[in-house]
Amino acid sequence: MKFFIGILALLVCSVSALEFDRPCRDTVAAKENFSPAFYTGNWFELYNSLDQGNADCIDHHYTRRGLQQVFDVERIGFVEGLGFLREAGVASVAFPNETPMRAIFNATITRITGGTINYNYRVVATDYTNYAVVWSCTDLPNNRSQEEGAILGRQIQLNEASYTKVDAILESVELNREDFRFIDHSPERCGLETERNN
Ligand SMILES: *[C@@H]1O[C@H](CO)[C@@H](O)[C@H](O)[C@H]1NC(C)=O
Ligand SMILES: *[C@@H]1O[C@H](CO)[C@@H](O)[C@H](O)[C@H]1NC(C)=O
Repeated sequence: MKFFIGILALLVCSVSALEFDRPCRDTVAAKENFSPAFYTGNWFELYNSLDQGNADCIDHHYTRRGLQQVFDVERIGFVEGLGFLREAGVASVAFPNETPMRAIFNATITRITGGTINYNYRVVATDYTNYAVVWSCTDLPNNRSQEEGAILGRQIQLNEASYTKVDAILESVELNREDFRFIDHSPERCGLETERNN
């Protein structure tokens, strides 16, 4: 979930509502019986707990490498004044031989500004066809930590039933959508898909 730190590196700073006086907790669930085949494809980032320099129109493209538990991931976001920015990374299921396999990933992202970052994130829950809730945590000095949560959708908005599920999932891991930032995907802001790909 640190892909946008790369995009953010071009910006002033990122602010998180989710900084805690505790080390990263290891109690946050990860989706079990995870299916890389079902997870592949496009996801829109609908909410994120980091403000990400007000990046909007953020989407993720997951492409599975053959039958491996490994994805090539591309993330694209729109930043006012900079236009659409792209970052590429690789996300590997962290423990591909465990049964049931959990949606925990070791990921590497190549920053727009050069260099790579390694990090770990998990899909807390997903139904593959509507929503995914993603979480990661970074330890900070003095036993503090910063958590990043995101809500992904297969469409640019979720239906009410999916938001009800997502809010319950967030609550189960002691997060709240009110602490997240809504990410605009309106055609006015993001333009047409064809324009973006040029
Ligand atoms: C992912 O990271 C964990 C912790 O560092 C390590 O034990 C595991 O082997 C890694 N998995 C892969 C597929 O590299
Ligand atoms: C972090 O917490 C541990 C365990 O409570 C403690 O032993 C350690 O001194 C703390 N470190 C800092 C820098 O506060």
